[in-house]
Amino acid sequence: MFWKTKTTKSHAKNTLATATLFVFALMLCLPAMSKDLPTPPHITPPPGTHEGDDVDQPIEFPHNKHVKENKINCMYCHTYARRSKVAGIPPTSKCMGCHKIIATDKERIQKLTQYWEKKLSPKWKKVTDVPDFVHFSHEKHLREFVFNADYPVKKVAEVCGVCHGDVGSMTVAKKKRPLNMGFCRRCHEANEGPGDCWKCHK
Ligand code: HEC
Ligand code: HEC
Ligand code: HEC
Ligand code: HEC
Ligand code: HEC
Repeated sequence: MFWKTKTTKSHAKNTLATATLFVFALMLCLPAMSKDLPTPPHITPPPGTHEGDDVDQPIEFPHNKHVKENKINCMYCHTYARRSKVAGIPPTSKCMGCHKIIATDKERIQKLTQYWEKKLSPKWKKVTDVPDFVHFSHEKHLREFVFNADYPVKKVAEVCGVCHGDVGSMTVAKKKRPLNMGFCRRCHEANEGPGDCWKCHK
């Protein structure tokens, strides 16, 4: 029957088209999947990933443009990480050091400049948070994994990445590791960190 052969043929065509599309999609995904940051050789990372929600920030801040494209070091902006509990978010004055002249025609930079002129900072929302009863210190971990280990500061993003993922490639910062008790404790077990409850809880 004429109509029957026709449908079979177009069905076969569709299957072929779907298969081709699938192979193409896979080819597109592969480089994306393999480009996660390498783990520094002196760290045994705990297993576990997390798919955090998108956070609606006052200005979408593209880490990728700064870190990946313009090679700005994490600690240039998160200056407190090496010496205190918090890593800190840079003040607007730091942004303006560049953005008084860079990309001033862009909408997001004009919005940033308005904050600056009103002497305000965008109210960045927290992306990663542990409860208040948990003790965590950036300084301790960076001292251990960067400075005491003589790991080049240039490659610090790989150390941050164990707990934060590849932030430098993100268009918007997202939580990518669980950062729950199991994650912290498994890393302490594997890397000679403290196991006592009171070290993390006081
Ligand atoms: C040019 C400055 C700049 C650089 C460089 C930079 N950041 Fe950020 N970072 C920010 C700003 C601004 C925010 C707040 C906006 C946001 O959360 O998206 C932020 C947020 C974050 C957050 C989420 C904080 C939270 O609320 O929990 C993490 C994690 C982070 N940065 C890690 C990194 C890492 C790792 C690198 C290096 C690979 C890096 N940053 C480089 C400016 C910077
Ligand atoms: C051992 C795990 C670990 C490493 C390594 C680490 N962080 Fe964090 N980071 C955390 C945790 C946990 C929080 C949440 C802290 C809280 O809520 O008190 C956090 C919070 C942050 C924040 C939010 C603001 C703040 O200070 O609380 C920024 C920004 C940040 N980290 C950047 C970095 C950067 C940049 C590096 C590397 C230089 C880094 N972190 C390395 C675990 C880590
Ligand atoms: C060391 C210089 C430097 C600092 C500091 C800096 N930026 Fe940037 N920023 C850049 C460069 C370079 C670009 C890319 C410009 C381009 O692609 O045209 C950029 C791009 C951006 C963009 C994207 C603009 C667009 O729409 O294309 C935003 C938003 C932004 N920066 C916000 C910030 C904020 C917020 C801070 C402070 C937390 C900051 N920047 C600090 C250099 C800097
Ligand atoms: C990459 C592995 C790793 C991860 C992930 C990690 N830690 Fe650690 N942590 C260590 C190591 C190693 C030390 C020991 C550093 C030293 O000897 O100074 C340490 C030290 C500490 C200390 C200091 C204890 C003291 O002596 O004062 C605290 C508190 C702590 N971690 C809490 C946490 C919490 C909370 C988390 C999860 C949010 C976490 N850590 C995630 C490896 C890790
Ligand atoms: C390496 C750090 C670390 C150590 C050691 C640790 N905890 Fe925790 N604990 C955490 C973190 C981080 C959380 C927060 C979990 C979350 O937000 O999901 C937590 C949460 C908790 C909670 C709240 C309930 C829950 O499960 O979320 C209890 C209770 C607790 N811990 C008890 C203990 C006891 C008892 C020990 C010792 C056997 C201990 N912790 C050792 C990091 C640690």
